Amino acid sequence: MKKLFLTNALLIFFSMGICAQGSNSGAEKKQENGLGKSLIVFYTWSGNSRIIANELHTIIGGDIVEIIPAKPYTRDYNQMIEAAKQEIAEIDRGKYPAVNNPVGNIADYDTVFIVYPLWWSHMASPMQTFLHNQSAKLRGKTLALICISASSGISQTVADARRLCPNSKFTEALHLYSSEIRGAKNQLIAWLEKTGLNRK
Ligand SMILES: Cc1cc2nc3c(=O)[nH]c(=O)nc-3n(C[C@H](O)[C@H](O)[C@H](O)COP(=O)(O)O)c2cc1C
Repeated sequence: MKKLFLTNALLIFFSMGICAQGSNSGAEKKQENGLGKSLIVFYTWSGNSRIIANELHTIIGGDIVEIIPAKPYTRDYNQMIEAAKQEIAEIDRGKYPAVNNPVGNIADYDTVFIVYPLWWSHMASPMQTFLHNQSAKLRGKTLALICISASSGISQTVADARRLCPNSKFTEALHLYSSEIRGAKNQLIAWLEKTGLNRK
């Protein structure tokens, strides 16, 4: 009887081991493909972020959407510079410019790429509004930032995203300069590999 109990106990122990091994390899599989279901969200004023978002889309697939401000901006660069300066200052006071919501349910995604220009050292205000509006639903999601600037560093834009989405996970952000947009494919691929977000 004692022998039978011992044999049964050993069988249970080993089968538990096998089950645990099975679920571990499942977890490893998920980790291997760190991307999961992906969404690319971009905002652009002069077109660079759209080029990068489309390039990224050809590499990883998934869904892609554009943020459109409710009130269109001027096409005049000098006026735009001033308008953006005021808007960024207003965000500091808690007033966000209205934008569309192009995403059905952001909670459906595992990884969300945020592609945006830098304005006055900050994340462009329409993208700040988007993150502000979606913050609760982005809890626990992986956010991968791609910021494009003429020359400034992007650390303040990363701080903006972290402030707006304090409960999201962030990969290392990618900084691209306006001057290198056309040849950015290799940089995108290298960054995806480095962050573990490559599809394969
Ligand atoms: C309103 C505004 C403010 C900007 N402020 C900065 C800045 O502070 N530093 C910088 O390096 N580039 C700045 N830029 C340049 C943009 O970040 C850069 O041209 C970017 O590639 C534009 O992306 P887009 O074509 O997707 O709009 C600014 C551009 C605009 C329109």
